Amino acid sequence: MQKTIAVLPGDGIGPEIIEESINILNAVAKKFNHMFEYKYGLIGASAIDKTGDPFPKETEEICRTSDAILFGAIGDPKYDNDPRAKVRPEQGILRLRKSLELFANIRPVSIYPELFDISPLKNEKLKNVDFIIVRELTGGIYFGEKKRFSSSKSASDVLTYSKDEIKRIAKKAFDLAKKRKKKVTSVDKANVLETSRLWRETVNEISQDYSGVELNHLFVDNTSMQIIKRPSEFDVILTENMFGDILSDEASVLAGSIGLLPSASIGEKYALYEPIHGAFNKAAGKNIANPVGTILSAAMMLRLSFKMEEEAQVVENAVKETIKDGKRTKDTAPSQETYLGTKEFGEIIKKNCL
Ligand code: IPM
Ligand code: MG
Repeated sequence: MQKTIAVLPGDGIGPEIIEESINILNAVAKKFNHMFEYKYGLIGASAIDKTGDPFPKETEEICRTSDAILFGAIGDPKYDNDPRAKVRPEQGILRLRKSLELFANIRPVSIYPELFDISPLKNEKLKNVDFIIVRELTGGIYFGEKKRFSSSKSASDVLTYSKDEIKRIAKKAFDLAKKRKKKVTSVDKANVLETSRLWRETVNEISQDYSGVELNHLFVDNTSMQIIKRPSEFDVILTENMFGDILSDEASVLAGSIGLLPSASIGEKYALYEPIHGAFNKAAGKNIANPVGTILSAAMMLRLSFKMEEEAQVVENAVKETIKDGKRTKDTAPSQETYLGTKEFGEIIKKNCL
């Protein structure tokens, strides 16, 4: 098969982890006789430095004319420390998600038994943990109007959700649950927020079409506790944009490192694949980043966008095998142990793909 992939390395460790994923994709292409063509685009702080715009027109064009998008990471502390900055790296990924309508962010949380010990949770809590966070990605407080009042004495961010936005993400969650453990936990703050009450009402309506799937509702504060207390009981967690952002970082602690977790951001026409972690700028260029989250995101791309199930499994199994063999990156190594660099670790995963 011939596929064109838009590659957006972005900032910080982005370029390094993307490079390892491309090596793996090339190995898969060779093994299965595919042709992958890569079109590179600028995004984030590196795009601001070169063009003044975190999401240049050319990048959007590359994304719109490719079969899928592979994304690294975004962010730079020089903007975090400047709250007045008008142009910010994160606007790059937010505008990309919005303009391509990538409304469904799928974040699977699975755990490697060999890494139980690097998680702060007790081993017995981690057994059978296997859930997916389905996060709404193009609505909510992220995209509501932002304002400053009376020369910055106050500010506001508007949180809005339409019924249609809730319906389409709810359907995604139920469709996923149907193929899994048939359980949806919808997370909201319906005891306080009107958008959450509309959310709950709408999710209840959608659930009528999925009689085989069990639905329960949890408040987000309680969910953040239950993810730690009984993580193995979740199957599909359905939630809005900001709650999903926060809960997915929390859930990564179960896996032992945020560097391990992939994600897919899917719309009707386009799909983007990215690790859930940030740009980790301090580690940039040091060959210490964990490429697994990005490599597994590439595997999700093979499965979901290209319908290459066998190829996706080859990559996922290669990652599993590498970890099983005791190979570790810095973030997953117990402190006394030696660890491998990003490149060396990526190279072993690649060998295990062949
Ligand atoms: C994520 C990130 C982004 C988000 C940032 C970089 C804008 O934290 O993908 O989880 O908040 O969505
Ligand atoms: Mg986040």
